[in-house]
Amino acid sequence: MNLKPETLKQIDEVITHYPEKRSATLPLLHLIQEDIGYLPKETEEWVADKLELEPINVFEVTTFYPMFRRKPTGRRLIRVCRTLSCALVGGHKTCETLRQEFNTDLNEVSPDGDVTIEYVECLASCGTGPVLMVDDELHEKVDCAKAKQIADQIKAEPKES
Ligand code: FES
Repeated sequence: MNLKPETLKQIDEVITHYPEKRSATLPLLHLIQEDIGYLPKETEEWVADKLELEPINVFEVTTFYPMFRRKPTGRRLIRVCRTLSCALVGGHKTCETLRQEFNTDLNEVSPDGDVTIEYVECLASCGTGPVLMVDDELHEKVDCAKAKQIADQIKAEPKES
């Protein structure tokens, strides 16, 4: 698997923290997703090899937890809170605005490759909803107008090659 040397080093280090190798499954998956942006299809076999497990054991974990992505994402990942406090102040409209701006469905890469938009549960900023994250950056009180501004900013960013 095509991981950065520092990720490979972290992986080998993390495994030593656990008396049983299999306990390192979740941390390894997080490290791989952080590096690549999602879990490519060879992940299960690669992690199973590392931890002396069967690929099915890893597959059960990657498919159980919603935070693991099994498909590539757009250049930016937009995560919109769909939990009650945000939903009550318009989180769904915010999300719909973004979907229209980028002409995309949830959990897909937009046609221009700019974004993937997904719903997530509470982002721990319930008093300032609707809340969303663009990659690691939190945006608060994102009504439809602000969602449009955020979309315009993303569209104006230079595309990485
Ligand atoms: S409900 Fe949206 S941040 Fe908590």
